[in-house]
Amino acid sequence: GKVAVLMGGTSSEREVSLMSGNGVLAALRSRGVDAHAFDPAEKPLEALKAEGFERAFIALHGPFGEDGTLQGVLDSMKLPYTGPGVMASAICMDKWRTKLLWKGAELPVPEFVLLDANSDFDAVEAQLGLPIFVKPATEGSSIGVTKVKAHGGLRAAWAEAARYDKLVIAERFIGGGEYTCGIIGDRALPTIKIEPATEFYDYQAKYFRDDTVYRCPAGFDAQTEARLRELCLAAFRVVGGRGWGRVDFLMDEAGEPYLLEVNTSPGMTSHSLVPMAARAEGMSYEDLCVAILEMAHV
Ligand code: DAL
Ligand code: MG
Repeated sequence: GKVAVLMGGTSSEREVSLMSGNGVLAALRSRGVDAHAFDPAEKPLEALKAEGFERAFIALHGPFGEDGTLQGVLDSMKLPYTGPGVMASAICMDKWRTKLLWKGAELPVPEFVLLDANSDFDAVEAQLGLPIFVKPATEGSSIGVTKVKAHGGLRAAWAEAARYDKLVIAERFIGGGEYTCGIIGDRALPTIKIEPATEFYDYQAKYFRDDTVYRCPAGFDAQTEARLRELCLAAFRVVGGRGWGRVDFLMDEAGEPYLLEVNTSPGMTSHSLVPMAARAEGMSYEDLCVAILEMAHV
């Protein structure tokens, strides 16, 4: 039957989504799937039924695509879709509540503080120590994120993040490297180590620069790799994840992991990480897209 590749949308990650969606569309078509682009910014979702679509591949990122609202509409239309359902999508869109859940489940997260206009910025700086990451709770692709390195910089970083969300998190810096782990069904893919040439893995590094170094396998011994994959699977389960997703984490200098967030509609661009990890296991981009589609559900 007809498959809609949902892409574009209205979030700040629209451009990324179009890159993801066009990749998925070409891959599915190359495998004989009757796939068509569908942009919810240009057409109401009700048109999915009218146009005879039987499944949806969600390649939208950010609010109204990755946050449970779309998933709720598709549930009520009984149209199977890829990735997690309403609850996990909604939780994972909010990095603050995701961290609270993980803390409750005794999974490791970097120390964090919620900021607002009335915060005592000096006290937060003293508590977390420089540098400090400041991020809007509900954005993706590092949009609105600042690494505060200089004394007194926290307020300006809060103001920047607050342009995107009223929930803003300040997070302790963890200095042993950035990693990510893709999840396909009930299986974790090999972890990837990300070594950005920029100060951190920001929007430019994610999608446009070619000087970020990715290591997959990430270079852990087998036992550590297995333990980290288990941790990421556990983190995915705690938030109610299913289908597929990607868990981002940091390592400290002592080799201890700290969970950052779950992406419930991970990037599928030519620079993206889940396709990279799948490739390291011998799974092509096309096979990956088909595997994700085959797990579509209501
Ligand atoms: N939010 C982007 C698309 C990602 O996590 O891959
Ligand atoms: Mg994200």
